[in-house]
Order: sequence, then structure tokens, then C-alpha cells
Amino acid sequence: MLVKPDAVQKGYIGEIIKRFEGQGLRVCGIKMVHMTKEEAEGFYQVHRSRPFFGSLTSFMSSAPTVALVLEGEGAIERVRTLMGATDPKQAEEGTIRRDLAIDIEKNAVHGSDSPDSAAFEIPYFFSALELFSYKCR
Ligand code: RTP
Ligand code: MG
Repeated sequence: MLVKPDAVQKGYIGEIIKRFEGQGLRVCGIKMVHMTKEEAEGFYQVHRSRPFFGSLTSFMSSAPTVALVLEGEGAIERVRTLMGATDPKQAEEGTIRRDLAIDIEKNAVHGSDSPDSAAFEIPYFFSALELFSYKCR
């Protein structure tokens, strides 16, 4: 997942990590990344034909993000449930986007939506040597 520029700039990095760790997800990779416009376009290439692609990739390259790899049973679904709907106005109470996001674009977090997208997105930011699997005590 990514903590998007809006949430980094509002000082929500710790709050967001706390919500994932609080639900038993383990942080196995973490990195601060300021993407170039081209890197953001590559990351969001599945959306290249969408009307919001230019604006989204400008926003995502406007300031640093924090990339996190989270591990745990059903991690993809659980992360997306904690994130809430894309539009914070539609997101359920208690979700990250409802509580912390600004609008449908500046929506605080990104999460992989399938094993295939995670398999593309994780190596976009992390090498094998930067990922750590461990048991929580
Ligand atoms: P994400 O990929 O960032 O986790 O978010 P998502 O699955 O909930 O939403 P998706 O449809 O994949 O859209 C990717 C990101 O594009 C921006 N967006 N803007 N202006 C708009 O109508 C609009 N729609 C989407 C958001 O930043 C969204 O998270
Ligand atoms: Mg998505």
C-alpha cells in the first residue's frame, strides 16, 4: 500500500501504520518514495485511459509517499476494508479514507486490489532484500 502525498503532508503516516498494525497486519517492507511523473504513470498504468489519469499522476508525483508491504491472512481484502471506498464521502465510518482523506483523488491511501496487482506493485518499489517476513510476538 501507499500513504499518498496528502496524508504524508498532513502528518498521518504513523496514524495509518498504527491502524494496519492494530489489526494484526505485519509491516514487511517500508520506504519513502518521491515518484517522478513518469514513475507515477508507470505505477498507475492500468488507469492510463481514465479521464483522471493526468491529474492523479501529477498528484502522486507532487510530494513524497510512503510505500508499505503488509503481510497477513487475507491481507489484500483487509487492507482495502480498512482503507474504505475510493471517495471518502462514500467510505464507511471508521475507515482511513472517511477519517483522513480530503477528496476522491487526494484519498490518503492506495492498496493493491488483487494478487496480480500486488505482484506488479511490490517489486515496483522493493527488491527481495528489502522485504522481511517474521512472526509477531
Ligand atoms: P487506489 O487504486 O489508489 O487504491 O484506489 P481505488 O482502487 O479505491 O480507486 P481506483 O478506481 O483504482 O482509482 C485510483 C485512484 O485514482 C484517483 N481517482 N480519482 N477524480 C476521480 O473521479 C477519481 N477516481 C479515482 C483516486 O486517487 C483513486 O484512489
Ligand atoms: Mg485501485
